Amino acid sequence: MNVIETDRLYLREVTTDDAPFVLELLNDPDFLRNVGDRGVRTLGDARRYIAESFLGGYLRQGFGFWLVEPKDSRAPAGICGLVKRQMLPDVDVGYAFLPPFRSKGYASESAAAVLDYARGVLGLRRVLAVANPDNAGSIRVLEKLGLKFERMVRLAPEEPEIKLFASDL
Ligand SMILES: CC(C)(COP(=O)(O)OP(=O)(O)OC[C@H]1O[C@@H](n2cnc3c(N)ncnc32)[C@H](O)[C@@H]1OP(=O)(O)O)[C@@H](O)C(=O)NCCC(=O)NCCS
Repeated sequence: MNVIETDRLYLREVTTDDAPFVLELLNDPDFLRNVGDRGVRTLGDARRYIAESFLGGYLRQGFGFWLVEPKDSRAPAGICGLVKRQMLPDVDVGYAFLPPFRSKGYASESAAAVLDYARGVLGLRRVLAVANPDNAGSIRVLEKLGLKFERMVRLAPEEPEIKLFASDL
């Protein structure tokens, strides 16, 4: 079932059938560098990660990271969605795409629709985002969405400082 539709994209819930895509995305070098290493190395790991993180998020929070499919191919291109982290005061928006689907405006288009959903359906009034200081592509997407740099944060004491962005909705 599609949760969100834009001009070119469908956003739908991830299912365990998407394990091959999740395995590929979570091991993409840019994902590992900019988002982190989730320790997912096999299809079995990917199925477990989908059940715990993606499906668990939908159940616990009523939202999460959705799978983005271009309407023309219906191929899994990336993920985009919302997460509430314990260490941040508000929900944050995030996205990651496989290399062949980058630089097509899909991150901007899907994230703009996710912010509309956050405001219109979930009733959120403020959204955050985090990005590595050297992740120029991600920061450009956030600025196009109207988020502004607020301050540096650490998501865990042992992790390096990253940039926190915010916007009222
Ligand atoms: C970050 C990421 C989602 C950007 O996706 P994308 O599909 O390239 O984004 P878009 O096509 O919507 O591009 C948005 C803008 O960013 C710019 N941009 C994209 N990559 C860029 C880069 N490496 N350096 C500078 N600008 C970049 C585009 O030119 C575009 O600007 P414009 O509209 O003014 O032309 C993608 O590179 C990715 O999945 N990276 C790995 C995971 C990741 O880093 N996720 C974010 C974690 S915070």
